[in-house]
Amino acid sequence: MRDLQHVAIIMDGNGRWAKERGLNRLRGHYAGVESLIEIVRTSSDLGIKYLTVYAFSTENWKRPLEEISGLFKLLISFVARELENLVQNNVKVGILGERSVLPEDVNRSIDKALESTKNCTGLSFNIALNYGGRAEILRAAKKFAAQCAQGEADAENFSENDFSKLMYTADIPDPDLIIRTGGERRLSNFLTWQSAYSELYVTDIYWPDFSPEEYEKALDDYRQRDRRFGGIK
Ligand code: IPE
Ligand code: IPE
Ligand code: MG
Repeated sequence: MRDLQHVAIIMDGNGRWAKERGLNRLRGHYAGVESLIEIVRTSSDLGIKYLTVYAFSTENWKRPLEEISGLFKLLISFVARELENLVQNNVKVGILGERSVLPEDVNRSIDKALESTKNCTGLSFNIALNYGGRAEILRAAKKFAAQCAQGEADAENFSENDFSKLMYTADIPDPDLIIRTGGERRLSNFLTWQSAYSELYVTDIYWPDFSPEEYEKALDDYRQRDRRFGGIK
């Protein structure tokens, strides 16, 4: 899609969706997976090049263990169920976040998804998992410091572009549009470095109710925006 390469989504509101129905929060996450599958397919059909979704933040460890392990199980079952479809649709999976502390079965499942889709050339579908924007910036700063100590980087001539290459999103352009469902007007530590000039779209719709029609509304809204990047018309 012209002028829209990268859409990022904060998939929020699963818990409230479930609560309104008198269901366990995990049921909201299950329903959220169905939305995700539809939105990946729609993004692919629309020719969007990059889709990044916030699945688990570095702060989400504060939740009850039962919910955390339920979320990880859900990711494993998502891969088991959808991987074939993703490959068929030429979708390349990527992961943004600190993987080293994730459970072993989660990492196995991720490795399988990355390996199976590594040659896909269609939609690049990135899952932010154990992702935090500040942690990502700090990690990049530490890499930079190490490179300087080794004489591999030169602080004087180090650019924003060079620093971007140290992020999880090294090969991904900054998000043009960040969508947040569930109504909260904040970024919750999502793509802190990359969101500097992203357009923001918030909808009160809970993630499990976020349909391709709602997605089209967000994209239509984006098309009306005047992106000045600090300049003037
Ligand atoms: C977002 O839904 C999904 C994750 C954080 C994994 P929530 O679980 O935050 O849903 P609400 O915000 O409590 O409704
Ligand atoms: C943001 O949602 C994280 C994800 C969608 C994975 P949260 O529900 O964790 O954010 P807060 O707590 O409302 O800021
Ligand atoms: Mg939430």
